[in-house]
Amino acid sequence: MNTGKAITSFGDNGKVDLREGLGRPLSDFGQGVQSGSPGRVFENLIILGSAPGEMYGSPPGDLRAYDVRTGKMVWIFHTVPHPGEFGYDSFPPDAWKYTGGDNDWGGMSLDEPRGTVYFPLGSPTYDLYGANRKGADLYGNCILALDARTGKRLWYYQIIHHDLWDYDPASAPLLFTVKHDGKKVDVVAQATKFGFVYVLDRETGKPLWPVKERPVPQSDMPGEASWPTQPYPTAPPPFARQKFTLNDIDPYLEPDEKERIRNILMSASSDGIFTPPAYNRYTIEAPGENGGANQGSTAADPLTGVMYVKTYDEPTIHKMTESVPGHRASLSSGTPEERGFALYSQTCIACHGPNRARIPYPTQIDFAQFAAAVRAGNGEMPAFSEATLPPDDIRYLAAYLRDPAAGESTPASEMSNSPLPSGEKRFYGQFGFIFRANNGLPAFSPPWSSLVAYDLNKGTILWRRPIGTTPGLAAKGITDTGSSDLPRNGPVVTAGGLLFIATKADRMIHALDKDTGKTLWETKIDANPDGIPAVYEVGGREFVAFYACVSDEKASMSYDPGKPGAQGYYVFALPQD
Ligand code: HEC
Repeated sequence: MNTGKAITSFGDNGKVDLREGLGRPLSDFGQGVQSGSPGRVFENLIILGSAPGEMYGSPPGDLRAYDVRTGKMVWIFHTVPHPGEFGYDSFPPDAWKYTGGDNDWGGMSLDEPRGTVYFPLGSPTYDLYGANRKGADLYGNCILALDARTGKRLWYYQIIHHDLWDYDPASAPLLFTVKHDGKKVDVVAQATKFGFVYVLDRETGKPLWPVKERPVPQSDMPGEASWPTQPYPTAPPPFARQKFTLNDIDPYLEPDEKERIRNILMSASSDGIFTPPAYNRYTIEAPGENGGANQGSTAADPLTGVMYVKTYDEPTIHKMTESVPGHRASLSSGTPEERGFALYSQTCIACHGPNRARIPYPTQIDFAQFAAAVRAGNGEMPAFSEATLPPDDIRYLAAYLRDPAAGESTPASEMSNSPLPSGEKRFYGQFGFIFRANNGLPAFSPPWSSLVAYDLNKGTILWRRPIGTTPGLAAKGITDTGSSDLPRNGPVVTAGGLLFIATKADRMIHALDKDTGKTLWETKIDANPDGIPAVYEVGGREFVAFYACVSDEKASMSYDPGKPGAQGYYVFALPQD
């Protein structure tokens, strides 16, 4: 702590290799094993999850505890059960040799007096297609309670059977003591990407209010065996809208764009949160796997039993393909070809498909004609103005169209369409592919982001409100839309009655009354705040700190980029008495 030097007596010269000890050769791993959260220290242990991804070739997300002094692995819990272990028969035989994921990447919660640690476990590989993992797939999408000292299973509760939607619970489970039927009960509450909150007895894993297994739509993907039912909580009510119907199209869109979205919706399957992915048509889920609650989206007020959830209602649209989609591409980084592919995936793929059908560039027309065609539109082909597609974006798109392979750079292990170990064909879907309109915003009606407060003593919603604004709409006086920015941030609640949260796209910091959700104070900063604020006290004075970044993204309808050089920590203090 004083020198920053590695303690060489720990592990191998100060470190342990997380890829080791998983019972599989490293050459099997198409992805690394990293951690998306710092883990928890308990007595002499550091307890770790991992973020191996949920792709073909992802390592298993086994949970582990290491001795903090020696680096020795003290226990391991196989989240994809090995032969002879409980849950082994929830997968096909031998699936444990090739199934990865079932990982805790978002965070965990520790009940120190009990010596129990609660993990939200992710989906098994492959995220959107499960022909090679027929069964309920334990411990995929489970809340798992382990003895923190031994790694022994105490209970598990599966929130999704045989996941086909990338519905890994990503926020750390929250611990409360609530009053239920006149008795005090210690509970653990888990918010999900699909809009439900599961409230379980911390001791037994039993739901506090009944959860009903209800029939859900069944998959027609070749080789798939979707699970017939999924668990619907009867309380508390969902925090997000769970279906995208024709009535939910963003009312602020131009009539032509509304019509285009309407046509996509009519040709797609949009049967709610459990619409199974399909090969021959689009499928739509709201709030979408990039939506609902994600890492850091929740806060607990242990004094009152109130749980706060920040939700994004950002429906996703999928179509399964036999080639790899570009989920690695990014709109704001990478080579021109990669950025072009990201833009293409977001803006053009819905009509031109993964094979770029009907785009005559570069074989039949030159760059100037391409740029003009994109600006002008043509019948069903929308016209893209400079506001929605700046000149640089057209150059990136052109770079991708000239050299698609360079844009679709994906690890070699993912490129192969060779059969899976189980003999099934591979199918791929694009994760988190938000169903957007031509202005870059979700095609769904706002609010896109909201805060919801639950009274977990009663299982009811105390209040809900949109949080944040969308710069291009706020400029026109439309301010109750919420914002559409990164899903991984959230609120912090204080004993003094305040709730702090930042919204990135409009660069705002908000302080709310935790009992009513009313804004008490807000301010705009010069950079885009991200993550969860930190509240601390020094010398008797309370502070709240936000991290904020500046990207090279262009100002758009949805995003107000920060000022160059303005990134850093923004720290506010409560007034001195
Ligand atoms: C709503 C569906 C839709 C979207 C979204 C879409 N296109 Fe098109 N596009 C079409 C259709 C349909 C055509 C064929 C037009 C015709 O020939 O009648 C077309 C044609 C084109 C052409 C040839 C135009 C011409 O007249 O020669 C180009 C170039 C093109 N699209 C590029 C793009 C790019 C780049 C994007 C994304 C930024 C995109 N398109 C998004 C439907 C769409």
